[in-house]
Amino acid sequence: MAISIKHLFGLRGVPATDITQILKTADNFKEVLTRPIKTVPIMRGKTVLNSFFEDSTRTRTSFELAAKRLSCDIVNFSASTSSIKKGETLRDTVRNIEAMKIDIVVVRHKSTGVPKYIADCTNTTVINAGDGANEHPTQALLDILTMQENFGRLKGLRVAIIGDILHSRVARSNTWGLKSMGASVVLCGPKTLMPPYTEEFGVDVTYDVNEAIEEADVIMILRIQLERQSSGLFPSLNEYRERFGITRERLRVCKKRFIIMHPGPINRGLELDSDVADGENSVILDQVTNGVAVRMACLYLLGGGQQNE
Ligand code: CP
Repeated sequence: MAISIKHLFGLRGVPATDITQILKTADNFKEVLTRPIKTVPIMRGKTVLNSFFEDSTRTRTSFELAAKRLSCDIVNFSASTSSIKKGETLRDTVRNIEAMKIDIVVVRHKSTGVPKYIADCTNTTVINAGDGANEHPTQALLDILTMQENFGRLKGLRVAIIGDILHSRVARSNTWGLKSMGASVVLCGPKTLMPPYTEEFGVDVTYDVNEAIEEADVIMILRIQLERQSSGLFPSLNEYRERFGITRERLRVCKKRFIIMHPGPINRGLELDSDVADGENSVILDQVTNGVAVRMACLYLLGGGQQNE
């Protein structure tokens, strides 16, 4: 079954039927990834541009692997070694690359709206790999797939997202996606790192981490962006850890069954202690594994791969 969206800019406004189809397709690709030969020829001849204007480990690598598993050609573009350094505009850069016949552009950029801008000035399909503090839809989809695998459902799950909500594209995409799928979300973090417009999200908000985690099935911890501390948004890293850091001790109030998630990279000993990150409730590496299957599903469904079967 095809999906209704042409590009993946974010999960806001994406129908639950599309999310369900992406999850179902990713689940099928997970089986492919367990085979001795992990490559399928279903997107042979398609070309993907992996364009990262901001650093990445997980997203960049898993998009590259996903494209290769589908037999796409993939070109990695790095802004730091491109003619952007010589003053070329983003529009000229992407239009020149498009002229080399690219089918799908995967883009990460520090500015909100760049994926939409690229779609507006080219004829390629665009997948957002994280734009500023706006959205990171494939991260949320892999998170949602991981939750579904662990609980067998999404409807009715209670998901606590803890940390720097204000600057988090992961929190935004998860909020939109989870709400579409019938889960409930509680956001928790320092007041200075909470956006003023959470009513629009239709979520609960608390500044008490114990209150956030005690009823949660899923505890999703966000990376503290260390550069924020110098902007005075929280007093010190020690105080942050004291009030919001997830320690084994703190988890005593939790339900019997819960999972710990983190999108990475982790500041160990700050937002999350190592024994929790590597402990029995952690599904952090499963998230990374699911990232490849989810990105295969997005490339396949958005890149017209199903017509090649
Ligand atoms: N979760 C995530 O986006 O990680 P990277 O920045 O390493 O891609």
